[in-house]
Amino acid sequence: MSNKNIIEAKNLIFTYSDEPDALSGKITAAVNDISIDIERGSFTAIIGHNGSGKSTLAKLLSGVFIPGEGSVQVYRKGCDTPLDCSNEDHNFDIRKTVGMVFQNPDNQLVATIVEDDVAFAPENLGIEPSEIRKRVDAALETVGLTAFAGHDTHKLSGGQKQRVAIAGILAMNPECIIFDESTAMLDPQGRRDIMDTILSLREKGVTVVLITHYMNEAAMADKVVVVHEGKVAFSGTPKEVFGNKKMLSDCSLEPPQCAILLEKLSDLLGCGNPCAINTQEAVSVIEKALKEHGIMPEKGDNNA
Ligand SMILES: Nc1ncnc2c1ncn2[C@@H]1O[C@H](COP(=O)(O)OP(=O)(O)OP(=O)(O)O)[C@@H](O)[C@H]1O
Ligand SMILES: [Mg+2]
Repeated sequence: MSNKNIIEAKNLIFTYSDEPDALSGKITAAVNDISIDIERGSFTAIIGHNGSGKSTLAKLLSGVFIPGEGSVQVYRKGCDTPLDCSNEDHNFDIRKTVGMVFQNPDNQLVATIVEDDVAFAPENLGIEPSEIRKRVDAALETVGLTAFAGHDTHKLSGGQKQRVAIAGILAMNPECIIFDESTAMLDPQGRRDIMDTILSLREKGVTVVLITHYMNEAAMADKVVVVHEGKVAFSGTPKEVFGNKKMLSDCSLEPPQCAILLEKLSDLLGCGNPCAINTQEAVSVIEKALKEHGIMPEKGDNNA
């Protein structure tokens, strides 16, 4: 029986510089005592304001950074002995298990041609060339870049580079993928496509961690973790998180737009104070209230 969690992080502390901060005179840790478990097969969203520590945490969870204090353990499928992010000998296996799409795609792209870039990581994992071909084609199709396979990576737009970076990680077939604001540069359709990809990855059993400033994206997760000043301020289901207005405002965050709209309409509708985390939920509450006020006919009543 393998562990129910794929990643277990305990009491992580990470500081970028030993120099005290010019203003406070203190050494500030970007991640300051965070413990977090990522359940295998789950979809976790990490939210928090700029500079709260999300990217630093993601790099610790994926083994890119080694914590100054604390531990990160990664459990491969069917394997009871964890990989330890502080052990350099485990680095290759951790990279194979936990893929990370960086916030800035320029930090991730390595080759000058799109398909070579997508093939780079699977090549380094020692995968057969015929299998790499299949994976590269499938990954480029998933991110909508099939026609760009032979293009120069340097001549792509920011959003296109972001798609190449996502394809590169998909082609590795990792057990867990951490997306650090991977939809930030994409147009609305591109963002929806990547969210669909994320949801289908979860359907296939891939563990997903998504760092995002889009609350409607976080609302699709199983669990939302709120990071504030290097600590976990709150974690729970999207309903628990987005229903907690005081905590959100203390962390300089807002619930999804549909929840804000419903709150503003709630007095008018006399529907109490329900929390809607997506448009469908908001529409259901509004429909119910309108029916109760006799404003909207029941379905099937419209015989005119
Ligand atoms: N390379 C670096 N060198 C020094 N300090 C850094 C570096 N990267 C981040 N920091 C600091 O660490 C803290 C956390 O940064 P981090 O990038 O993890 O935040 P974030 O939550 O990802 O922010 P954003 O939403 O803007 O991406 C910030 O105070 C930031 O200034
Ligand atoms: Mg960041």
